[in-house]
Amino acid sequence: MARMRLAERLDRLPPYPFEELKAKLKSKGKELIDFTIGDPDLPTPPFIIEEMIRCAKLPSNHRYPLSLGEKELRGAIADWYKIRFGVDLAPDKEIIILIGSKEGFCNLIRACLDPGSKVLVPDPGYPAYMGSVLLADCEPVRIPLLEASDFMPDLPSKSNAQMLILNYPNNPTGSVADLNFLKEVVDWARDNKLIICYDNAYSELTYDGYKAPSLFEVEESKSIGVEFNTCSKTFNMTGDRIGWAVGNEELIDGLRKVKEQIDSGVPTYIQRAAIKALRSYQSCPSKTPDFLKRNINEYKKRGDLLVEGLNSLGIACTKPKGTFYVWLKCPTSSTEWVNKLLELSIAVTPGPVFGEKGKGWVRFSLTQPRERIKEALERISTLL
Ligand SMILES: Cc1ncc(COP(=O)(O)O)c(C=O)c1O
Repeated sequence: MARMRLAERLDRLPPYPFEELKAKLKSKGKELIDFTIGDPDLPTPPFIIEEMIRCAKLPSNHRYPLSLGEKELRGAIADWYKIRFGVDLAPDKEIIILIGSKEGFCNLIRACLDPGSKVLVPDPGYPAYMGSVLLADCEPVRIPLLEASDFMPDLPSKSNAQMLILNYPNNPTGSVADLNFLKEVVDWARDNKLIICYDNAYSELTYDGYKAPSLFEVEESKSIGVEFNTCSKTFNMTGDRIGWAVGNEELIDGLRKVKEQIDSGVPTYIQRAAIKALRSYQSCPSKTPDFLKRNINEYKKRGDLLVEGLNSLGIACTKPKGTFYVWLKCPTSSTEWVNKLLELSIAVTPGPVFGEKGKGWVRFSLTQPRERIKEALERISTLL
C-alpha cells in the first residue's frame, strides 16, 4: 500500500525531544536517575486537590466550559496580577484560560501571524516555541542567548520580524531578567513593530530574594504584548493542563477565535481548583504562600547540592537564579557527556534539543529528591 503523504510542514518539525527521551529511557529498563523533563516531583498542595475533587462531584462542572474560561477564574487571575505584580487587567478582555501555556504559544501565532512571518525565537529555548512557529508556517529566526551575556539576547538595531518570543526566568539556562531589561525590550519592539510573546511560566520559582517581574509592569507594554503563565510549575499541576494568556485585548481576542474552533476549554473542576490555588496569595503579605516557600526552599537546596557537588568534582556550573534547571557546559561534547551519564544510569537533557547554541551543554532538572542527587553525584565521581 502506498504510504500516506503528510504535510511538508511536518518534515520541517523536529521530533519533540521529551517524548523521544521518555521512550528511550523506558526501553533501557534500568534503575535510572532521571533529570530530563521539567515535571515537578513535589505534590500538588492538598487544598487544591480537595477543591478539584469537590468540584468534580458537581454534575454542572462536567458540561462544556467557555473558550475564554470561567469568569471567576479570570477574576482570580486579575487579582493575582494585582497582588503579585501591581498590574491591572480587565478579566473580560485581557485574559484567556489555556489548556496549559504550551497550547497558547501555538494558537497565538496562528491567530496573529500570516504564513512566512518571521519570529525571533530564543536559542537555547523551550522547544515548543520552535514547533509552534513551524506549525504556523512561519519562519523562525534564532536569537542567541550566550553565556558571555548572562543568557540575555543581544537585540539587533533593526528587525523585520513580526514577533519576539522571550522567557525569563529562563528554561534551560536558569537566568533571570530585571525590569530595566524588559523596558528596553518593549522600547525596541515598539520601534521595530514587533509583538512580544513573554513566557513567565517560572515567575514564582526564583531564589535569594529575587522576584521576577511581569512584562506588564512596563508602561504601555500591553499595546504590543501577551504574557503567558501556568499552574504547572507554581502549583505542581503539570498534568492538570491549565494556564493563561493575558495582555493586549486584540491579540487575546484573536487567540479566543482560534481556540473556539479547536477546543472547548479546560474542564470546569480544574478551573475551580486553579481559582483556589491563585487565591492562596490573597492572605499573604510576603506574596509567597507557605507551600510555595517550602517548594522554593527545596529546589534551592537541590540546586545547591548538585552545583556544589559538581563543582567539587571539578565540573564548573552555576546555581540557577530562577526555574528548577541547572545548565551545565560539558567537559566533552553534549552527546559524549549524555552517553557517559547514561552508562551510569543518569539521564540529562542534551543541550542541542534547546537549539544550536545548546551544543556543548546539558540540562539537569531539579525534580529528583536530594537523596537521588547525592547518589547521582557519587556515580559521577566514579567517572573522574
Ligand atoms: C518555559 C516554559 N514555558 C511553558 C512550559 C509549558 O507549560 P504548560 O504546562 O503550562 O504547558 C514549559 C514546560 O516545561 C516551559 O519550560
